[in-house]
Amino acid sequence: MTLKFHKEIPHLAPSLLAADPADLSKGIQLAEAAGATWIHLDIMDGHFVPNLSFGAEAVRSLRKSSPLFFDVHLMLSNPHLHYLNFIDAGADCITVHVEPDYPLETTLAQIRSRGCAVGIAVNPKTELASIRPHLPLVDLVLVMTVEPGFGGQAFIAKCLEKVRDLRVLREAESLGYKIEVDGGVSLENAQGCVSAGADILVCGTAFYKSEDPSSFQKHISNIGV
Ligand code: DX5
Ligand code: ZN
Repeated sequence: MTLKFHKEIPHLAPSLLAADPADLSKGIQLAEAAGATWIHLDIMDGHFVPNLSFGAEAVRSLRKSSPLFFDVHLMLSNPHLHYLNFIDAGADCITVHVEPDYPLETTLAQIRSRGCAVGIAVNPKTELASIRPHLPLVDLVLVMTVEPGFGGQAFIAKCLEKVRDLRVLREAESLGYKIEVDGGVSLENAQGCVSAGADILVCGTAFYKSEDPSSFQKHISNIGV
């Protein structure tokens, strides 16, 4: 299956969590006007993470007016009960965490079988060994560089070791996943993320609070390895 995902991978995925929650569509328009082609949508259940964000109906509504690639990050204890709603709402990629107890492999396979790209996410304290058997099944590996749940936290540089290891593994085993870093990514640490092997950088606070989102986008896009 050829997923839309594989056509073009940008460096930057602005995280809508840092936009004005009362006007998410304006936040998406701002990302698009700045030249972004992806938007990262953080879905939180107040259980797997100690915070709530927005749900599938908000995603469906945003989809109507946005051509951006919807990179949906499910921070849920029961993603297997919800992923279908997000596919139906227009997600292009759905990423689920490895930490909760649910039928992970079936969920990954089901998401893909519906023509949606699929990702697997690891928290800062989670070892790569826990996702290793699943790597051939995913299009994306999301490495959390903060504890999930809130924007605006400090970047945990140690997590880049996992990014380096994922790059090596990808080459060694001829796998196709892209590597995304999420949490505390800024202009100061972006080069380090890309040099470590990250393909996609999720930027919430740094993007939405920047004085000039267009030049922020250009700066991130132009970073070379
Ligand atoms: C945190 C979310 C992140 C968050 C990143 O749990 O997964 O996507 O929006 O926000 P910043 O870039 O502000 O750390
Ligand atoms: Zn996220």
